[in-house]
Amino acid sequence: MRVFVTGATGHIGSAVAAAFARAGHETIGLVRDLRKTAPLEAAEVVPVLGTMEEPDAWREVAGRCSVLVHCAVDSSDRSWDLHRAALGALRDAARDRTDRVLLATSGVWVYGDTGEAAVDESTPLDPPTFSAPRPAVDAAVLSWNGAGLRTLVIRPGCVYGGGGSLTAAWFESAARDGAARIVGDGENRWAMVHRDDLADLYVRAAESGLGGEVLNATDRSRATVLDCARAASRAAGAEGRVEHVPVEQAVAAMGPFATGLALNQHVASWKAVRRLGWTPRHAGFVDEAPRLFAAWRASRPEGA
Ligand SMILES: NC(=O)c1ccc[n+]([C@@H]2O[C@H](COP(=O)([O-])OP(=O)(O)OC[C@H]3O[C@@H](n4cnc5c(N)ncnc54)[C@H](OP(=O)(O)O)[C@@H]3O)[C@@H](O)[C@H]2O)c1
Repeated sequence: MRVFVTGATGHIGSAVAAAFARAGHETIGLVRDLRKTAPLEAAEVVPVLGTMEEPDAWREVAGRCSVLVHCAVDSSDRSWDLHRAALGALRDAARDRTDRVLLATSGVWVYGDTGEAAVDESTPLDPPTFSAPRPAVDAAVLSWNGAGLRTLVIRPGCVYGGGGSLTAAWFESAARDGAARIVGDGENRWAMVHRDDLADLYVRAAESGLGGEVLNATDRSRATVLDCARAASRAAGAEGRVEHVPVEQAVAAMGPFATGLALNQHVASWKAVRRLGWTPRHAGFVDEAPRLFAAWRASRPEGA
């Protein structure tokens, strides 16, 4: 299959693009900065220059692909507009082709604070304010399923591994300031997934005949955020020290996004296990913290 991945230089997109290439698919990755192409090319992904602002630049390339994967996210005020526009452009790029699949990246924060009982794809959504537009975007993508286009919405938990994304902040604060910084008391649990397990799910989903489905992507680890942060702190040489930042203070510093970090979530991925034969291979953040720290350190730009 020929695969087109947006956000191919990102935390999720880079792993997803590499996994498709490893699985033998001709994979093209959208990049907006040519200085970032080397790791993609090393993974046998072909970079194409473009942005979500200007889909015309990549529409034709995407139109030649039967697998369209949206992993890009823009952090500006235009984030949701660009997200919708990019998904629409992917949908329209290959209208004449049949047998296409569009994979849209969502996230488990749309379930809100779940408490201790596991939720699945059938659970009503309750997103925090900053992700409020997400359910409507997911619903639109699902509504496009049919007439030669399969659409799937993937909802990853917090994605660890490699450069670390949200978990990078634990390593960074521990290495720099001597304590891993977390929001709140840390008695909450994040739903989590290693990025290579997540990437495997994308490949399986694309290769399956599934369409019109939401698929959660979380592993079975159930450590508290405090346990994860302590493990990160130990791995970074800070002897398990953790600094707690009250939620209100974190919101003042980071914006409403910080409320997501305080969510307590238990999200099941039975559907992907049953329907795709997906088995997360990674043991969870706590057990792997020392080598995750090494991966985070190695992935930082020189001098950072
Ligand atoms: N990370 C997680 O733990 C997690 C968990 C659940 C869901 N998600 C969701 O997964 C998606 C991807 O997250 P991520 O963590 O992989 O993000 P990320 O690491 O920040 O990567 C974002 C990607 O989008 C690209 N990008 C940004 N603005 C762009 C624009 N205007 N046009 C074209 N490309 C643009 C970036 O390019 P540059 O490299 O040039 O900046 C990068 O490749 C998001 O929707 C996020 O909400 C993430």
